Parts: sequence; structure tokens; C-alpha cells
Amino acid sequence: MSIKTVAIVGCGIGRSHIVEGYLPHSDKFKVAAICDLNEERLAAVGDEFGIERRTTSFEELLADETIDIIDICTPPGVHLEQVVAALGAGKHVVCEKPLTGSLAGVDRIMEAEKAAKGVLMPIFQYRYGDGIQKAKRIIDAGIAGKPYTASVETFWLRKPEYYAVPWRGKWATELGGVLVTHALHLHDMLMHLMGPAARVFGRVATRVNDIEVEDCASASLLMENGAFVSLSCTLGSQEQISRLRLHFENVTFESTHEPYTPGKDPWKIIAANDDVRQKIDRVVGDWQPVAPRFTTQMGQFHAFLSGNGPLPVTTADARRALELVTAIYQSSDSGAEVPLPVGPDSPKYADWRARTK
Ligand SMILES: NC(=O)c1ccc[n+]([C@@H]2O[C@H](COP(=O)([O-])OP(=O)(O)OC[C@H]3O[C@@H](n4cnc5c(N)ncnc54)[C@H](O)[C@@H]3O)[C@@H](O)[C@H]2O)c1
Repeated sequence: MSIKTVAIVGCGIGRSHIVEGYLPHSDKFKVAAICDLNEERLAAVGDEFGIERRTTSFEELLADETIDIIDICTPPGVHLEQVVAALGAGKHVVCEKPLTGSLAGVDRIMEAEKAAKGVLMPIFQYRYGDGIQKAKRIIDAGIAGKPYTASVETFWLRKPEYYAVPWRGKWATELGGVLVTHALHLHDMLMHLMGPAARVFGRVATRVNDIEVEDCASASLLMENGAFVSLSCTLGSQEQISRLRLHFENVTFESTHEPYTPGKDPWKIIAANDDVRQKIDRVVGDWQPVAPRFTTQMGQFHAFLSGNGPLPVTTADARRALELVTAIYQSSDSGAEVPLPVGPDSPKYADWRARTK
């Protein structure tokens, strides 16, 4: 098994990638370099983890043949150009959410992937944890039966101090609000378990903070599988919770309410009867614990790079989540339901920030 060398670009959440994603897999990854425009941050993170190679130049990393993986943890407005450049330089690429700010941008990245030597893995670390993974195994085994309804709640709290970081709260740099930066995780979890949406009605508003982007949103989805889903998001909840509750014919699932680790155990997994309970026991009886968040996502990424498993999160997954964002914005602007797929003829395909009313 070969050790992959990683360069982290952006030392905010990039620090968590080191702590949760790479250090627990020191036999698989070596963080060989860090990059940030902020020299104080660069020095602090470099000193903390003993990383000697520190640079303010992203381009310098691209030219370095000893780097296998560029891990992009910069603000959202920078992702598109950095992902395309890193793929063009022949690197494997990890990129934080949101991958970019439009479906046209994702499609540009997909074009770049076709010609690339390396692969791109977007981050969706909330998918990992015992609770969600057991639910996924039960659903994939066909035990849950017909999907009925689900509700997905991202009830977080963000105060003015959070928006003191200049890129946050602005369309030009954050690219969106609660839908793009916070609830995207839970909406990916929903679709990981229940598949894609078919029709979307949504409303967004800025009600909590004095910012440009939305901080409250609500949406009603008809999923491709026929289920009805309601999404509710705010950054003004005095108690922070994340919650998914999914109702199927034979099983009801409910996540923990932990805001940043809703995928962890214990999930409520409520069987309709003893027969269903026994079937569930058969598929999860031998459960091997799955570490939450970046630890498992990065571990599975290494397995993929070593030819031992699928790419855990794909650009298509990121596209699906961003297509839902686009549809909610479009519906909120037009007041009409939006059918998916959202194609190039949509007023929001090129840029969801374009106003349509
Ligand atoms: N997956 C998650 O749970 C999670 C959590 C937090 C943030 N994020 C995402 O991670 C990204 C970064 O968020 P953050 O909270 O860490 O932001 P941050 O502002 O704390 O950190 C970003 C860093 O990138 C640096 N930077 C900016 N432009 C750069 C460039 N061109 N080259 C090199 N460095 C550059 C900044 O100096 C800053 O230190 C965002 O897309 C955000 O949505 C994801």
C-alpha cells in the first residue's frame, strides 16, 4: 500500500482534514505541504503538526511532482478555478463543499475530469458514521420497503461574529447561504438514503443576520421514488440540531440530533414487526464500527486510489446536491414548482445567483 502525499490548501477546515482525515491514516497519507494566504495561520498549523513545507503559492504546489493530492479547503468562490487547475496539473483533488456555485461550473469540472490523470473527490463527510451507514445497508438490502415521507431539519445558529470572516454572508464569495454552506450536508445524506428529487418547491429568505445570502429556507420535494420530503433550515435556532427522519413501509429511521455528527449512532431504527426486525438483525448483526466524518471518507479515498473500492463521493453526488440548491433558488424566485433535471435552459443553470424576477 503506497503512502499518498497531500498538500492542504486553506488552513481553516483544512486543519480538521489533517486531524480527522489524514493523521488517523498515517500509514496511508502524509501531509507534505500546507498553503494559505494568511501567513500566521500557515505558521500556526505548520508548527502544530510539524509540517515544514509551507507556502502562499498554490501554483508552486501544482508544479511539485512529489505531491499526489491537492486538498482544497479555500472559500467557495475559489474552488472552481483551483479544482480545474489541480486536475489540469495531473493531481488527485479533494474539494470541500460547495464544490462550486453553479451547475455550469460543475459541468466544467466534469469536462476537466474527462481529460485528467487524477480524480476528484468532493467532501461529504456527514455520510459517515454507524447510524447512517446501517440505515443505508438496510435500505439497499430492500428491507425498508416503499418510501413514504421524510423530514430533514438543519437548525443551526450563526451569529454576527461568524460573519466577521469577510467571505461569509456574501453572494460573490460564499455563493449562497444556509442551503449551500450548512444544509447541503443533510440534503446529501437524504439523497444518499432516498435517491434524487424529481420536483421541488422552495422558499428562501434572509431573516436571522444582516447578510446578503439566505439564512432560512424551506422546501417540499417529490422524490423520484415517490416519497414526499420536507426540508427546513435556519441559522437562528437557539438549540442547534440536525435531524433526518425517514418513513418507509417497514422501517422508520431517525438520526441523532447532533448538529455536526448526525450520522453517528444511535439512530432510531424502528421495525414494523418481528419479521422485519429479524431481517434487519441479519444484515447489520455483524456490524463493524465506521468512524464518523473525514476519517472514513479519507480512508475510503485511499482504498479507491489503491484499487480496493469505489470512489466514496463523486462529482455526480456533488452535482445532485447542487442541482437541488439550484431548483430551490429557482422555485423561490419564480413561485413555481421546478421539475428536475435542471438543464442549461434554466435561468439558474449558469449562475443560481441570477435573479429571475
Ligand atoms: N465539511 C464541513 O463540515 C465544512 C466545515 C467548515 C467549512 N467548510 C468549507 O470549507 C471551505 C473553507 O471554509 P473555512 O471555514 O475553513 O474558511 P476559513 O476562512 O476559516 O479558511 C479558509 C482559508 O483559506 C485561505 N485562502 C483563501 N484563499 C486562498 C487561496 N487562493 N489560496 C490559499 N489559501 C487561501 C484563507 O486565508 C483561510 O485561512 C468553505 O468552502 C466551507 O464551506 C466545510
